[in-house]
Amino acid sequence: MQHNEKFLVTSALPYANGPLHIGHIAGAYLPADIFVRYHRLKGSDVVYICGCDEHGVAITIRAEQEGVSPQAIIDRFHELNKTSFERFGVSFDNYSRTSLPVHHETAQEFFRDIHAKGILKTKQEEQFFDEDANMFLPDRYVEGTCPRCGFADARGDQCEKCGSDLNQTELLNPRSKITGKTPVLRKTSHWYFPLGEFQDRLKAYLDQRPNWKENVRNYCYGWIKQGLQERAITRDLSWGIPVPVDGAEGKVIYVWFEAVLGYISATKEWARQQGQPDRWQDYWQNEKCKLIHFIGKDNIVFHAVMFPAFLMAKGGYALPHDVPANEFLNLEGQKISTSRDFAIWVDDYLDRFPADPMRYCLTAIAPETKDADFSWKDFQTRNNSELVGILGNFVNRSMTFVAKHFDSQVPEPTEPDDLDLWMLARLEEAPALVAEAIERYEMRLALRRMMDLARHANKYFNDKEPWRTIKTDRARCGMTLNICIQVSKTLAILMAPFLPFSAEKLWNLLNLEGDVHRQDWALAARQTLPPGHKLNQPEILFKLIDDKVIAAELERLHKGTSGGDGGQNSQKSEGKANLISFDEFKSVDLRIAKVLTAERVPKTDKLLRLEVEVGDEKRQIVAGMAEHLAPENLPGKSIVIVANLQPAKIRGLESQGMVLAAETDGGELSLLTVDKEIASGAKVR
Ligand code: MF3
Ligand code: ZN
Repeated sequence: MQHNEKFLVTSALPYANGPLHIGHIAGAYLPADIFVRYHRLKGSDVVYICGCDEHGVAITIRAEQEGVSPQAIIDRFHELNKTSFERFGVSFDNYSRTSLPVHHETAQEFFRDIHAKGILKTKQEEQFFDEDANMFLPDRYVEGTCPRCGFADARGDQCEKCGSDLNQTELLNPRSKITGKTPVLRKTSHWYFPLGEFQDRLKAYLDQRPNWKENVRNYCYGWIKQGLQERAITRDLSWGIPVPVDGAEGKVIYVWFEAVLGYISATKEWARQQGQPDRWQDYWQNEKCKLIHFIGKDNIVFHAVMFPAFLMAKGGYALPHDVPANEFLNLEGQKISTSRDFAIWVDDYLDRFPADPMRYCLTAIAPETKDADFSWKDFQTRNNSELVGILGNFVNRSMTFVAKHFDSQVPEPTEPDDLDLWMLARLEEAPALVAEAIERYEMRLALRRMMDLARHANKYFNDKEPWRTIKTDRARCGMTLNICIQVSKTLAILMAPFLPFSAEKLWNLLNLEGDVHRQDWALAARQTLPPGHKLNQPEILFKLIDDKVIAAELERLHKGTSGGDGGQNSQKSEGKANLISFDEFKSVDLRIAKVLTAERVPKTDKLLRLEVEVGDEKRQIVAGMAEHLAPENLPGKSIVIVANLQPAKIRGLESQGMVLAAETDGGELSLLTVDKEIASGAKVR
């Protein structure tokens, strides 16, 4: 293979504070894995790096919620996530972790060097402090209302809703994540990175990267236009990497300063594993190596603005070549929510399904230019009509035909006719078409182009009618099947980046030597199977997924028993018996509703059907209270409802919420109401 491009590819280091869900996968891992697998086939020199992000407040909050040590949390999720990635076929060259000594040393070296150059500033400032918990509350330890979009549960460092990067003190109604109380301000001193001093160089850097994705460029320019502010890169916390300069006792390096450096540490660890400890420099300190960071959109500013600035400050490093950030993935029309267990967890999914159908579906709907929505129904359709119906079907019908009529041997080719030539032209153009899309990070398009080859091949098979020509013109029929088997081989290589497990299986069915993942992309369309080559017994590549299976998944999802939260619930009851965290309480959306109408549900003793107004929304609620409450007394009353309960069908009526009432052991019932007039839709907490 000729010219070797050099790449260091990374996917965002996931926090080791919980399991992975398909939203993570679709954003930062699957597209990177496709890119990397393709480049390996192309013969590029590529190293793919990732690992767990094990510091910061995300970890300690989880540890506190469970009443265990941060170390116990990171150990558990490092193992779980590493295994999940392997099972899902994400092919890192190294999956590291930021708690390793190599990373602590790297991060401290960066801090120390930048500090020694006199770049950092120290400043006294006021920081939120929780008097009950007797601690400072950095970053996510404070939550409140987003000053940009009004989202009520914005975190101290970032609003999940609008993606704004926030400063805690900007939050409206700040509250402590630990006690729920309003924090006070206290003096402390910190080290600051003067991002503003890098403004011009960052702008020039972006100007030189006109091919970056639109969303990423807009985001960065927006940031720069606002004027870059200095950023504190230390925190008052006990968990993290100690600040390696005098006078910094009790302070650690800010997680966002050190986590991005984790890519470097992980490459160092990889180089040591290769027995070439200096080799990491080939990638990081080499202008010819392209550094590519796959991330979700919430990480753009850290990778495309701050990280380059850190590297400029340190000196001697190549700057990121590209930051292909993806938008978000929703689930069944709603936001994925880890706290409500509304997610498809990767490890849990893999207990019941193979990886490839999910890889296929997530690539087909990849949130490349806008948010995308995963639904189980769509997953089923794509599996059944595309993977089974098109790709699997073509390979299977070709191989079965050869098994039956040609003793499982690749038939002799003959002079091609027009249809053969048409098919061969499709075959020859396919690798370059798929490659072109992958190199532009357009994985959806790349996948479609790979599938187009299978689509064309099915059409070719139909048009050639081998079931007829086998009786009338065996040589012609042989040519058809020869081409079909060559196409199957090409498909095995072209599908390898997307569907690595199925590609291996197909490679074996075709009885080919070596590893499908070590073929040469440039030669993928060559018709290399000689006549007489013996194929293995055909087996199906993809299985149909039944309606019942999909119904069960939907039920699982809506019941919130998707189970993957790594034992958050079970752990909690071991740690702090029956207590729920403030977060869990907050996940219940309680609202004031005004009853508009109320009536008995015909032919039932217990059920009432209420129509209520919640803000400017109207809802129907079916409640089992008819034995205790006269419907005619209800209209006009302000009651309390659970507004985010999964809708349920009761006696054929949809119930969109639940009414709160107090009930004695004796069964006496009283509705919760308010002690003065208040607008419906008001939040109860
Ligand atoms: N852990 C962070 C997140 O999940 C991402 C860190 S990417 C890194 O949002 F490069 F900084 F590690
Ligand atoms: Zn916001």
